[in-house]
Amino acid sequence: MFTNYRARTGRNLILIGYRGSGKTTIGKDLARNLGLNFLDTDTAIQETTRQSIRDIFVNQGEPAFREMETATLTTFASQMDLEPSVIATGGGIVMRPENRELLKRLGLVVWIEVTPQIAIQRISQDLYTAEQRPALTDHSLADEVHKMIAERTPIYRELADVQISNNDDETDPDMVADCLISELRNTDWYSNLVKLIDT
Ligand code: S3P
Repeated sequence: MFTNYRARTGRNLILIGYRGSGKTTIGKDLARNLGLNFLDTDTAIQETTRQSIRDIFVNQGEPAFREMETATLTTFASQMDLEPSVIATGGGIVMRPENRELLKRLGLVVWIEVTPQIAIQRISQDLYTAEQRPALTDHSLADEVHKMIAERTPIYRELADVQISNNDDETDPDMVADCLISELRNTDWYSNLVKLIDT
């Protein structure tokens, strides 16, 4: 785990990381254990458009989907009454500089790191992936995952306030969430959250 806390005024906890890193599973555990709401940018886009992410890629193309990600973050950031939430994000959301600014504004950023080997294993075992998730390149799954993780890792690292790895399938996701919460207790973000909940 590494930490690199910067002053974050946003009240949310943002999860970034590649496909198969466990953002959704760990995010839901975090939300439950911290008593926060859970949001997911992909789900928000699917609800707004009533299309699967895969259909959006096929019918409108990836650039249109990236616009939708920015619009979703903008909406979250402008909702002053947004309950403090754990926000899981799509793995590629960090590629646009304006999204990185929005994510920083929204709250404390946690990068859940996964190795290419484990990501490939999880993605190939996940039926949802086959049906719903678009391919991101013309390469084989293994080449795509290696290429994307190599390209995105410096960006995840730069953006993250906290990093945690989730590469051991023997470890319950709830334990990863607990470990993160112990670390988060040291942050101003957490003190502000407790004050907010107490008032
Ligand atoms: C993407 C990851 C997906 C989804 C879209 C693009 C990416 O989200 O946003 O298919 O570019 O890595 P998950 O990371 O939740 O799979």
